[in-house]
Amino acid sequence: MQIALPTAMLAGLSPEQFMDKHWQKKPLLVRQAFNPAPSPASLKELAALAARDDVESRLVTAFDGEWKLKQGPIARLPATSKPGWTLLVQGLDQHLAQGRALLDLFRFVPDARLDDLMLSVASDGGGVGPHFDSYDVFLIQLAGQRRWRISAQRDAVLRDDVPLKIIANFKAEEEFVLEPGDMLYLPPGWAHDGVAVGPGCITGSVGFRASSVDGLAAELLPRLLDDVDSDGRLYADPRQEATAEPARVPAALLDFARRAVEAAVQRPQALERALGEALTEPKATVWFEPGEPLPPGRDAVLDRRSRMLYDAAHVFLNGESFRAGGRDAALMRSLADNRALGAAEVARLSPDARELLDQWTEDGWVQPQTP
Ligand code: SIN
Ligand code: CO
Repeated sequence: MQIALPTAMLAGLSPEQFMDKHWQKKPLLVRQAFNPAPSPASLKELAALAARDDVESRLVTAFDGEWKLKQGPIARLPATSKPGWTLLVQGLDQHLAQGRALLDLFRFVPDARLDDLMLSVASDGGGVGPHFDSYDVFLIQLAGQRRWRISAQRDAVLRDDVPLKIIANFKAEEEFVLEPGDMLYLPPGWAHDGVAVGPGCITGSVGFRASSVDGLAAELLPRLLDDVDSDGRLYADPRQEATAEPARVPAALLDFARRAVEAAVQRPQALERALGEALTEPKATVWFEPGEPLPPGRDAVLDRRSRMLYDAAHVFLNGESFRAGGRDAALMRSLADNRALGAAEVARLSPDARELLDQWTEDGWVQPQTP
């Protein structure tokens, strides 16, 4: 991606300028970010996806002023002519090639931060109510119109009488009606309320993920312990004296425990491996269709569901880590950055790396493509 070039998608800013001025800092409204507006899925396709049990979806209704939330699968949608409902479908990047293509336009942000593409379809007046998200979001108007009201307010109080996170004291500061192709970027914590204006409103949300300190630690610690080679050493206390406080934890045992934990965490490359594996772990709803080894002369393309990252010593793919160095590492990094590796480059892989690529193709993580 040309990160230094101004782009209409970011209102004439380059990705570099956008990250510097807006990312995590202030909203950006982009009129005609896309022309024509992308169209990753129709209402009919979204309804079909929402009915599947391997697709995450929710139906939010506000009929007669009463907010209701129904988790998917959603077998039947209310009539499109009935005002006040919205269907939200997650993970469109996993389910549809065009969803993946739309998400890929935002790869000026590290993949490790990119989460998924959600699409919402709403009847007139439909929305999820005023709320704030903990994550950055790009809201892309794909079809119909939506009125967004936004606010930097920091005193938001959530209602406790509804099944959704809805702000009780929302005070809009700005308001825009988004037309197809328009886009609104919001940093984390900005209050917003999007209400469909007329029928057939489809909005895409490119969402990001941010780990919490606790969440990351909880995810990484078991992985750090996964492949610890036990040296078989047992706690020994030849100097333990007779005790009149038998219930007290011996200080030497606490020391032993601390050293054991530190040794596990400080092993060379252990944290690097655990982080890369955790960040590329596929979501629970993801499954891959097994394939054949990569035929000679074909390009290798990452399956749209695959998550691939790398660091100085590894490549990570779908929750697994592989050590890579030299030319193989350069080629694997190119596969990760471009989500594809041309046939000529595939031919330059070492026999071991080529075998790995065959394995990934058999696993359905990589797809062969005719150049
Ligand atoms: C929507 O698309 O209806 C909701 C998206 C959001 O407010 O985050
Ligand atoms: Co939101």
